[in-house]
Amino acid sequence: MNLIVKTELLKRLFEANGQPVSGQEIADQFQLSRTAIWKYIKELEQDGYEIGTIRKKGYYLIATPDKVNAANIKKYLKATKYGQQIHYFETCESTQLIAHDEAQNDAPDGTVVISEEQTSGKGRMSRPWDSAVSKGIWMSVIVRPSLTPQQAPQMTLVAAVAVTRAIQDITGIHPNIKWPNDILINGKKVVGILTELLADPDRVKAIILGIGINVNQEAVNFPPELQTIATSLNIETGNQVDRAKLMAKTLEYLQHYTELYEKDGFTPIKLLWESYSDTIGKRVRAVMLNETINGTAIGITSDGMLELKLNDGSIRGIYSADIEIHK
Ligand code: BTN
Repeated sequence: MNLIVKTELLKRLFEANGQPVSGQEIADQFQLSRTAIWKYIKELEQDGYEIGTIRKKGYYLIATPDKVNAANIKKYLKATKYGQQIHYFETCESTQLIAHDEAQNDAPDGTVVISEEQTSGKGRMSRPWDSAVSKGIWMSVIVRPSLTPQQAPQMTLVAAVAVTRAIQDITGIHPNIKWPNDILINGKKVVGILTELLADPDRVKAIILGIGINVNQEAVNFPPELQTIATSLNIETGNQVDRAKLMAKTLEYLQHYTELYEKDGFTPIKLLWESYSDTIGKRVRAVMLNETINGTAIGITSDGMLELKLNDGSIRGIYSADIEIHK
């Protein structure tokens, strides 16, 4: 089946907003028979689209499946580079693993791997990431910015700003970022970001941004140990959120802020990140591998380190830690 015809057909059905779309017109445009168009319609129905027919008028869209597949995303996608290649899975172990293979095989900048479910989702510090079927956005984006390996960790903060902005646009909610890259609503985690790097000593080959967004879970969909610390956009807004729309917006902002970072450096990203942060100005405990320290978070440095002012007045920069914010 020709994906271009199928995508165009779907786009027309969406744009018609429930009104009929002429099969003949599309057949003429692609120099196909009406029967060929009918076969595409049948295929869309098999993908879960509900499509009606009005004699002599054409086909109209009744309902779309709740899937984050390429066709659903592309109907909202404004990004010109990110999301042009989408590898969609119903289930997989972890989108990060597939994205690593794709990145090694020269997948272009902005390639996305997305799955309805992950059976072995990866979180930071080798923790598992709970990825309930069709309830969230479990995606890995392969980005190839022109950055040095030293500049790569800041891409985590770029991604956090992009996702926060997208959530704000789509739901009207104002989430907070907890350093470095947890996105919280009312103190509970709604997004996690895992940044992995493929690099030569002097050059970034690819950054794999693993983004997990809890979208449509209800409290019971989280395992008991997460129920007090995790939330979803559905729980916070009381509404189901269109995952494809949110994903398209996230890719749009991700491309925008990555380009801004490449062009103007880290300062604009740092300012945005600080405006969304709930860490700066707070007393925090930073739990690191070999040490735990307490202090006041005073800002992030131009390379994305969190700066803490300790009780003795000294300043400590930290690269990686679990942060607990004192109430
Ligand atoms: C964290 O610990 O906060 C990071 C969680 C990252 C989860 C995402 S879901 C998509 C991608 N695939 C994975 O296996 N992990 C990341």
